[in-house]
Amino acid sequence: MSTQAAIVEGTSKYIIENYGRLPMAAGRGQGSLLWDADGKEYIDLFPGFGSGGVCGHCHPKVSEAVKAQADTLLSHGNLFTNEPQVDLAKRITENAFGGKVFYCHSGAEANEAALKLVRLAAGEGRYKIISFNNCFHGRTMGGLSLTPEGFQKGFEPMLPGNVKVDMGDLDAVAAAIDDETAGVIIEPIQAEGGVNVPSVEFMQGLRKLCDDNNLLLICDEVWTSPGRTGKWFAYQHFGIEPDVMTLAKAIGGGLPVGVCVAGPKCADVLVPGTHGCTMGGNPLCAAAGAAAMKLIEDENLLDRAVAIGQRVADAINAAGFDCVTEIRGKGALVGIQLDDSIQAKDIMMKCMENGLIICIAKNNVLRVAPALTVEYSVLDKGMGILIDAMKG
Ligand SMILES: Cc1ncc(COP(=O)(O)O)c(C=O)c1O
Repeated sequence: MSTQAAIVEGTSKYIIENYGRLPMAAGRGQGSLLWDADGKEYIDLFPGFGSGGVCGHCHPKVSEAVKAQADTLLSHGNLFTNEPQVDLAKRITENAFGGKVFYCHSGAEANEAALKLVRLAAGEGRYKIISFNNCFHGRTMGGLSLTPEGFQKGFEPMLPGNVKVDMGDLDAVAAAIDDETAGVIIEPIQAEGGVNVPSVEFMQGLRKLCDDNNLLLICDEVWTSPGRTGKWFAYQHFGIEPDVMTLAKAIGGGLPVGVCVAGPKCADVLVPGTHGCTMGGNPLCAAAGAAAMKLIEDENLLDRAVAIGQRVADAINAAGFDCVTEIRGKGALVGIQLDDSIQAKDIMMKCMENGLIICIAKNNVLRVAPALTVEYSVLDKGMGILIDAMKG
């Protein structure tokens, strides 16, 4: 393997620099450990930026499923179907709200599918979608149109008819609805926006507003599923069901899978010719996703997600930091709100230096989102590094 310096140099020479990357090349990973290309070891409490969310790096059960599928069939296009994509779809829909799925490769694409589905279901003339300040729905033109202005700069004009209101403000949602509104999209927990959890009353009120106005409710669960928050899907914390749900990141067990789940009411809206994705439902990726879903079930990882979140919060609380104003989230998606005396980005960089990977979110929040399989000894060691960095 090349040295880290050579890979980083090759990256800046050959790869478009659209990411603010750190000068590190990932070499290999196992569980909640990651080694860079020079062999430095990191505890990874943010695996794959969410995509390693269920089982961390190279879980043997997922790797076995991928190897077996790699020797069987890699790809075939959507003139045909395959068993792994049926297996994954069954696991998703049976643990959610029934319906059917459309496959693609990313969260942004899943949201594009949801937008098209909702417009088609609403009928001609109804095209407006309501979304929420501090949300993030992806970087395609559709996803960007739903996401706050900062991300849109330079790419205007956006899709017409997108209205943003504050999460928690039902009156604002009601005021934003008109005859042209087709649906509402919400993250049941805003992950990039600061790990913001809406109230049960708000989510139930939102559901009712959608019902009363014949709007479809989309839950963007790209970050929060499967299992991360202690339920299969985060909407299940709020006593509601969406009409449409989008998934990506961890649903692929580490491989690229995007999913748009349409509930029974709208499962038959996308008919041949309305939407597509050549490699969507690819058997290799679907096999990895199905193996990850099976792991959640076999190893009772939903309960484990709750225990992990509690352990992270307990460690921070026990350290008694004045600069921590709130710890929020659900299950193993934890946001640590810092005051102005300390910068989350500086803490993240210090952790990197000391062999720990965590991340930050908007508004000075530290984000910890370990694999649901993380060993407690590794988690505790990682939290020790984080706490030392915060003390420093
Ligand atoms: C809630 C949410 N939706 C959509 C996306 C876009 O996903 P992707 O990067 O896979 O396109 C993200 C990415 O972070 C996300 O957090």
